Amino acid sequence: MTEFFWLGSGSPLFEELTQLRHAIFTTEFGLPKSFGSSDDRTCLHLLVKQDGQPAACARLARGMDSVFMATTVAVAAPFRGKGIGTTMVAELVEKSRRLGCEHLRLTAELGTTAFFKKKGLLSTGIECDVADYTVEIMVAYLDDNPYQISWLQPGQDISPALELRRQVFGKEFGYTNDPDELDPIAHTMLMYQDGNVVACGRVAPLPDGRYKLGKIALSGSLRGGGMGRKLVEALEFKALELGAQEVFLSARHPAMDFYLHIGYTPCGQPFMSGPELHTDVKKTL
Ligand SMILES: CC(C)(COP(=O)(O)OP(=O)(O)OC[C@H]1O[C@@H](n2cnc3c(N)ncnc32)[C@H](O)[C@@H]1OP(=O)(O)O)[C@@H](O)C(=O)NCCC(=O)NCCS
Repeated sequence: MTEFFWLGSGSPLFEELTQLRHAIFTTEFGLPKSFGSSDDRTCLHLLVKQDGQPAACARLARGMDSVFMATTVAVAAPFRGKGIGTTMVAELVEKSRRLGCEHLRLTAELGTTAFFKKKGLLSTGIECDVADYTVEIMVAYLDDNPYQISWLQPGQDISPALELRRQVFGKEFGYTNDPDELDPIAHTMLMYQDGNVVACGRVAPLPDGRYKLGKIALSGSLRGGGMGRKLVEALEFKALELGAQEVFLSARHPAMDFYLHIGYTPCGQPFMSGPELHTDVKKTL
């Protein structure tokens, strides 16, 4: 059985992933131990397990808003030739798409570019040297996404998000505390479909070093189809990029089961905020 684990450097699985990466890149290929580890903390990592054994790895980082880079993409020697690379590339592409990537670049050692071409990546002809190896940058265009994600930096005009928040939290649920004191320090996400804002959320790096997600809202007609999970994944990726190893949020009780279902655990007592009970929930990235 092949299993995919997406994780940040705070995850308990990160040690297994770095051991696998060393086995491939240092022991087998003779690259320095530090190879592929710069910026590990702000990347999203993929560990692939085959029948419970670490078998392959990769990591994703954002270049610009919708341009992502996949690096250290490799299957460990005992697991090659079994189709794991093929499923891993499909997973990388699918995850990138879910996170709003429109343009995925992948660095491939020259001996492996034929494999990636077969899997649908295009050659760019751009080569660079990494230690004793030459890699080529390959690319996949994912700009056929049915929805697009864009991020507003702290201080930018968040009125498109406020409009959706007014619809959902104001009109639907009766909240009046919007905007609030975290908006000026938060990174705000907008998800568009056919040019309309259909979802939003934010990541607020708090002065005490914690990272709080919030104002997560999806227009009514899109709920229950997996979009909420994608929304939270995109917020978690942004939090990772900002340096988080854990995130928390105050969950409305009616949405609590959604958060429990996607890996969050309660971390406080219930409290009233606006018209509803909330409980803080957290997740290690
Ligand atoms: C909460 C919200 C973001 C969830 O988004 P969604 O699109 O409805 O949820 P998804 O379809 O992505 O659900 C993802 C998974 O969680 C499960 N899930 C969703 N809601 C659930 C619930 N109330 N109880 C149990 N599981 C739930 C889904 O079945 C799905 O499981 P699967 O991937 O195994 O099939 C969305 O419903 C929403 O915007 N609600 C209004 C605003 C709100 O409450 N925001 C949260 C503020 S704290």
